[in-house]
Amino acid sequence: MNEIRPSRPNNLDAFWMPFSDNKYFKANPRMLARAEGMSYFTPEGREVLDGTAGLWCCNAGHGRREIVEAIQKQAAIMDFAPTFNLGHPVAFEAAARLSEMLPDPLNKVFFTGSGSESADTALKIALAYHKARGQASRVRLIGRERGYHGVGFGGMSVGGIGGNRKQFGAMLPYTDHLPHTHQPSLNSFAKGMPEHGANLADKLEDLVALHGAETIAAVMVEPMAGSTGVLIPPQGYLQRLREICDKHGILLIFDEVITGFGRLGTNFGAERLGVMPDIMTMAKGLTNAAVPMGAVATKDSVYDAIVNGTPNGIELFHGYTYSGHPLAAAAAIATLALHVEEDLPGRAAALEPYFQDAAHSLKGTRTVADVRDLGLVAGIELESRPGAPGARATEVFRQCFDEGVLIRVTGDIVALSPPLICEKPHVDRLFGTLEKAIKAAA
Ligand SMILES: Cc1ncc(COP(=O)(O)O)c(C=O)c1O
Repeated sequence: MNEIRPSRPNNLDAFWMPFSDNKYFKANPRMLARAEGMSYFTPEGREVLDGTAGLWCCNAGHGRREIVEAIQKQAAIMDFAPTFNLGHPVAFEAAARLSEMLPDPLNKVFFTGSGSESADTALKIALAYHKARGQASRVRLIGRERGYHGVGFGGMSVGGIGGNRKQFGAMLPYTDHLPHTHQPSLNSFAKGMPEHGANLADKLEDLVALHGAETIAAVMVEPMAGSTGVLIPPQGYLQRLREICDKHGILLIFDEVITGFGRLGTNFGAERLGVMPDIMTMAKGLTNAAVPMGAVATKDSVYDAIVNGTPNGIELFHGYTYSGHPLAAAAAIATLALHVEEDLPGRAAALEPYFQDAAHSLKGTRTVADVRDLGLVAGIELESRPGAPGARATEVFRQCFDEGVLIRVTGDIVALSPPLICEKPHVDRLFGTLEKAIKAAA
């Protein structure tokens, strides 16, 4: 007879942790056991200020009662229902609410379970769109160096972070990459959007000349690159990219997994940055991360080409068991309502100047090589120690955690993205603790 073996208490062996130094962690665990508002609490009850909204996702703060209750209620009513040729009201309502919040041309919503699934879904929709319109030669997908679109084969292939690709062989064929927009010699310590770099979008013309527009389906970029270490789009860059895509019939996809839901002071990054994509990917803040959920929004024209272009039967051979999962949909409805009621994007916009000043006050601190910011996001780049890239920031991360502040580091870049309910004293504590830790690691 099968039986479940009793587990040893505090056994850390079985969980293969994602994107982690498993050996180090298991020897030196830093655990989180509870969360509320702006804070996490360790199992011993020590409070840790959340400077990263979890992983850029708990924008409304932790443990929000409205979201918790919506999930509890839905779990009791109906735990799961398929959405393949069946429906349930909560998924439709979540899509309708999201569509209302989305900028106007983006009206159709496809649900996924994560940002990675959203990236792959968006790429597949782009391919299906061209095929439906009789342009099946458009199979090439263009991303950008240092871009992050999750870990599926599509998002990884279009993504441009070397470390995320090198372990995994050949990737998808027919991809290419624009150059990244990081130009420290021209833009370091820029406040908000840097002045130089719009011309880097013109590299898309070079890729069109190289491959032929008739082979290119889509360009996918993060409007503001987060995971690579906060790269703010140069002024005019996204507008230029939009123009070139339009000129050549290429779809523009914005990966708004981080920039969606108030992070840049508007509901979506597209609105703050004044450029509208044809397709937008989302996740994280959609449910305040309380239940995993992602989404892809498309213009009506994209949906119509595929759905109305198919005379009968299934129009898009794509979907996930958890597309529109009832618990996630209930969490999304409650989260979107909170965003509106509490004007979370407005709160972020109001705090931005104070947050920006605090971030840039680190200029001049020894080993701080650059500070960049937009909305409630800051990237603080540290000089790497010779022969030990990432070591300095890792030390800063550990000291901050031990001093009661959670930050995020990528290589030697510190990324900060607190929940949007953040207030000035939180900003003071966040940057005060960070400054002390940077000085200690100099
Ligand atoms: C821009 C972007 N796209 C996609 C993803 C992947 O999301 P997930 O980890 O939910 O698959 C992330 C995660 O950080 C992201 O920042």
